Amino acid sequence: MRVLLSGGAGYIGVHTAIALLEAGHEVVVVDDMSNSSLEALVRAGEITGAGIPLLVSDIRDEARVRTFVSENAPLDAVIHFAGLKAVGESVADPLRYYDVNIGSAVAVLKLMAAESIPTVVFSSSATVYGQPERLPLVEDSPTGLDLPNPYGKTKRIVEEILADAAAAGPGVRAVALRYFNPVGAHPSGRVGEDPVGVPTNLMPYVARVAVGELERVGIFGDDYPTPDGTGLRDYIHVMDLAAGHVAALENARPGYEVFNLGTGVPISVRQLIAAFGRAARREIPSTVLPRRAGDVAASYCDPAKAWNRWGWRAERSIDDACADAWRWQSRNPQGYRTP
Ligand code: NAD
Ligand code: UFG
Repeated sequence: MRVLLSGGAGYIGVHTAIALLEAGHEVVVVDDMSNSSLEALVRAGEITGAGIPLLVSDIRDEARVRTFVSENAPLDAVIHFAGLKAVGESVADPLRYYDVNIGSAVAVLKLMAAESIPTVVFSSSATVYGQPERLPLVEDSPTGLDLPNPYGKTKRIVEEILADAAAAGPGVRAVALRYFNPVGAHPSGRVGEDPVGVPTNLMPYVARVAVGELERVGIFGDDYPTPDGTGLRDYIHVMDLAAGHVAALENARPGYEVFNLGTGVPISVRQLIAAFGRAARREIPSTVLPRRAGDVAASYCDPAKAWNRWGWRAERSIDDACADAWRWQSRNPQGYRTP
């Protein structure tokens, strides 16, 4: 297949590009580079030995994107990663989030209709489940719009838009992938997560502490009703997540479907910090802070649907993810800007 990756220079996009190229597919990328670096795609090209055509553009720029797509026709599918993802920022600037995240999904669906591209795979999020009523989360666990932040609402709204588009368009194949917590890096240590500024997510924060750039990890609450009192999450290695996209594309059916992509294994904040310490062979200083507003105590999935339908499941452990994240962080302490 030849696949357009919107936001394909970003963290999950570039790992998925590598997985697709290694599985024998071709990729082309549209990315406005608002949260990514050209160097990521250069390295993905070096790792795979493949050329990756790139258009630096907002995916909503219909005329430019259509010209690029016709130059690279025929395309079989779009994986739509592009969007804004900072939860706190979405509370402060909700209109920007609705504008970019919903506008870019609508733009992708219009492009598909105009260029006869049948398949779309969308980066949704476990955040659409909000406060879980029951664990593990399955695909038909309740979701709604009473989510604590606009970012999560944009994911939920785009899922509805995809379902409507698939219902209306004969032959449209739309798959929403609800990612749990993506972590880790490509095992080469050359490609990984490179957040701008101080990381807000746990694993990149711990990585910066391990490398000596930040002093200590703040643990957001140790009084949750969990085995060690800290939050439980389902951390999935980004290369497992990437393989999940390959499986989704290769098995997409007409209509709209949704899949959880996680490991099914709950890991606590303290367990993750300990695992990273083992990988980096050093003590990771930490301190307990108050709970972070909007956090849930526990979020992890039952990944059986993807296994039953596609034969896909996560194969890498939290120790694998920490080892790969550490290799990336220690070799590239300033991310893609490391001299
Ligand atoms: P990322 O920021 O690294 O990648 C997103 C990419 O999209 C970036 O390269 C950015 O430059 C690009 N982009 C943003 N707006 C664009 C636009 N209008 N036009 C073209 N390109 C644009 O983020 P990521 O972690 O790789 O996440 C990819 C997708 O997965 C996002 O939709 C995100 O919401 C979703 N997701 C991420 C996580 C996570 O924890 N990383 C969890 C669940 C879902
Ligand atoms: N945490 C800390 N200290 C930190 C950062 C996080 O203790 O410095 C804790 C959180 O309280 C939580 C866990 O570590 O218990 C994971 O937090 P992250 O910020 O890494 O991830 P979240 O589960 O809050 O959210 C992430 C993405 C969302 C996405 C969600 C589900 O940020 O965009 O996973 O996919 F929606």
